[in-house]
Amino acid sequence: MHLSELEGLLGKDRVYQDPDLVQSYSNDWTARYIGFSPAIIFPQSTSDVAKVLSWCSINQVPVVTQGGNTGMVGGSVPLNGELIISMQRMNKLSISDTNKSHIQAEAGTTISEIQKLASSHNLVYGVDFGARDSATIGGTIATNAGGLNVLRYGTTRNQIVSVEAVTGAGKIIGNLNGLEKDNTGYHFPSLLCGSEGTLAIVTQAKLRLWPKPEERITLLFGLNTVQEALEITEACITSNEDTSACELFFRKGVNLIKEVFNLNPLWEDKHSTYLLCEFAGPLGVTDRLSEGALGKILQAQESVLVATNHSDSQKIWQYRELHTLAISSKGVPLKLDVTLPLQNLEYFLKEIERRCQEINPACSPYVFGHSADGNLHLNILNSEPAVKKIEKEVLEFVVSLEGSISAEHGIGRAKAPYLHLQRNKAEIELFTEIKKAFDPKTILNPNVIISSGK
Ligand code: FAD
Ligand code: MLT
Ligand code: ZN
Repeated sequence: MHLSELEGLLGKDRVYQDPDLVQSYSNDWTARYIGFSPAIIFPQSTSDVAKVLSWCSINQVPVVTQGGNTGMVGGSVPLNGELIISMQRMNKLSISDTNKSHIQAEAGTTISEIQKLASSHNLVYGVDFGARDSATIGGTIATNAGGLNVLRYGTTRNQIVSVEAVTGAGKIIGNLNGLEKDNTGYHFPSLLCGSEGTLAIVTQAKLRLWPKPEERITLLFGLNTVQEALEITEACITSNEDTSACELFFRKGVNLIKEVFNLNPLWEDKHSTYLLCEFAGPLGVTDRLSEGALGKILQAQESVLVATNHSDSQKIWQYRELHTLAISSKGVPLKLDVTLPLQNLEYFLKEIERRCQEINPACSPYVFGHSADGNLHLNILNSEPAVKKIEKEVLEFVVSLEGSISAEHGIGRAKAPYLHLQRNKAEIELFTEIKKAFDPKTILNPNVIISSGK
């Protein structure tokens, strides 16, 4: 690969070939995917990205694009020696004085940087989750990331007003006009959101911001059945406009977090099921909590932790947010991220541990997730040597319950072999046609979403 030509095009300080540095960018966060690459390219502008991609297209050089490399489905890993294009150096961020309801961000900006700037203007960005300090706006657009507040603000797709990107042929498309209404043909922001770097590299975006809530209260319920948790979830969704998060987790995950991070037990560990709910809005959030169906349910609860300030709320959130880190500290989990229709959630939860352990009695499944979205994360430790069998069993079970094989992490390479379970033949053929139109030489993230078996 004549990288000297790329150095000539971009400048030496954009092309890194140091083997240790390159290797540190070649594995994914879960350590399940280990790749290799000749170099990392650090573009600093949209025109840099256009130059790189037209060069790679002419020279048939496959690339993988990276933001924070926190993806969970192997979408940003150079498994076949692809060139790495890291967007980390494109991190300019601004809110214009004339329209504070939008923030303009370059692709490499992290979620927490966006949240910080928004907060300084008494506004919030609608997407939040544990990897906020590393996950980037480019990566979260590419995966249509969900997170903790989907029931309030929607997924990343709902935050995007305009997107600028570069196609696999090196063509700059999209715009940053920030017009809430611009019905002029195919809507690239919708199409590129969730395309996982297979159609184009997102270089910049204009994103909507929301009014910062004046009051926030976090409740943690200690419960004994999934049924109770789903009842409270239902009441939150249907009877309280302030609801901004509803997170479901269980004794097994909490015990692991207590062990790994030395946290205190909750109610002497007497509950099997936990539901963390957060409510935020204009003054009066606490008063409104005592109203309607939810008010009645809250009165009947015996184990509730309440936090009305940030530090107490953080203490409660640890029991949910530390799941991923605690599980990954014990090994490389098989990570499944599924959606179930709310009415099938309980049956899935009743069945899933038995079904996994029927295949491999030694495996150890942990379940937690975003209950209002029907989104469960199933992280299975010690699933080897039957990992593929377990993965197939779980995903087929989810589809039999009319769920989705990927709720928010995307397809990547991990779920590409199972895409046919979710999308029909005509759709997958159309995916291939769309890919060809945007990336005629198929250099962008080969084998992501559409697997060619490699
Ligand atoms: P990367 O991992 O670098 O890339 C992800 C995909 O996007 C790859 O296919 C890559 O090629 C592509 N890509 C990256 N940048 C661009 C770009 N500029 N243009 C085009 N394609 C690009 N995800 C959720 O949805 N919800 C959660 O609640 C959640 N919680 C998490 C908690 C933890 C602790 C961790 C480690 C991860 C979590 N994730 C969650 C997963 C991950 O953070 C998201 O998938 C996130 O969107 C990845 O962003 P990133 O910048 O790290 O992208
Ligand atoms: C989360 O919600 O914590 C992540 O999406 C789950 C995971 O890391 O598997
Ligand atoms: Zn999640």
